[in-house]
Amino acid sequence: MLETDFSRIRAATEIQYVEHYDVLPSTQDRARDLAGQNIAVPLLIIADEQSHGRGRGGHQWWTGKGSLAFSLLVDRAGWNPELGASPWWSLATAVAIVETITPLVRPRVVGLHWPNDVFVEDKKISGVLIDALGDGRRIVGIGLNVNNSLTSAPPPVCDTATSLMDLTGETFNRVELLITLLNSLRENWHRAVESASHAKRYNSLCLQIGKPLSVETGDDTVHGTCAGIAEDGSLLLDTETGRRAIHSGTLRHDHPHW
Ligand code: BTN
Repeated sequence: MLETDFSRIRAATEIQYVEHYDVLPSTQDRARDLAGQNIAVPLLIIADEQSHGRGRGGHQWWTGKGSLAFSLLVDRAGWNPELGASPWWSLATAVAIVETITPLVRPRVVGLHWPNDVFVEDKKISGVLIDALGDGRRIVGIGLNVNNSLTSAPPPVCDTATSLMDLTGETFNRVELLITLLNSLRENWHRAVESASHAKRYNSLCLQIGKPLSVETGDDTVHGTCAGIAEDGSLLLDTETGRRAIHSGTLRHDHPHW
């Protein structure tokens, strides 16, 4: 990325500070280091490759060259005064990604896996890691497979994930895509207040409905069939003992890279 790209990003979004690296262990960790300094937010860290990209649940995030990997440090005063409104925040993040990539892969079905994974049909294309800092600020890390082919990814990622390029055979301008996604994030986070109409939208984008799921909630692991996303943003699971609403938790996957 060039200095002119930074200027374009700053001019087209409300990003105050940008760093770009060819290779970095993790953009999430770099953003956390910078959070201790007095730098204006929203602050954006981008890397072409990550040697230790972090996924949820302590997993690794494979960052193939050509993908988009970035972390955004935001505060309460900036892009969302309702930062505490979880799981709306997570869902709104996934929806911003869904809205950004849907026009690029039409007519394929793009949707979300609660709380914030983005899938194109049965393959994952984007993941989100949100770290909360003690002072209320958050670091939102997004990995989106763009111009990286999953054929060069290690197993099992090569079988379970996809990229915009693999789906369309085209290459995409990552700076334009990033600008569209950043603006979509800002809009969706501002709209991420609890409302029945948002819940309906999240539910209609949920690709897990009818599928068997296991969710680790901290206390235990709940197994059931997904019945969608409830009006309060929780995940509904039909279990042997009845319907359960999961407010926060990590989906258990058999494949270790997410
Ligand atoms: C997941 O699906 O488990 C979340 C993956 C999040 C990956 C992104 S890539 C940019 C940022 N830096 C990291 O180390 N992780 C996040």
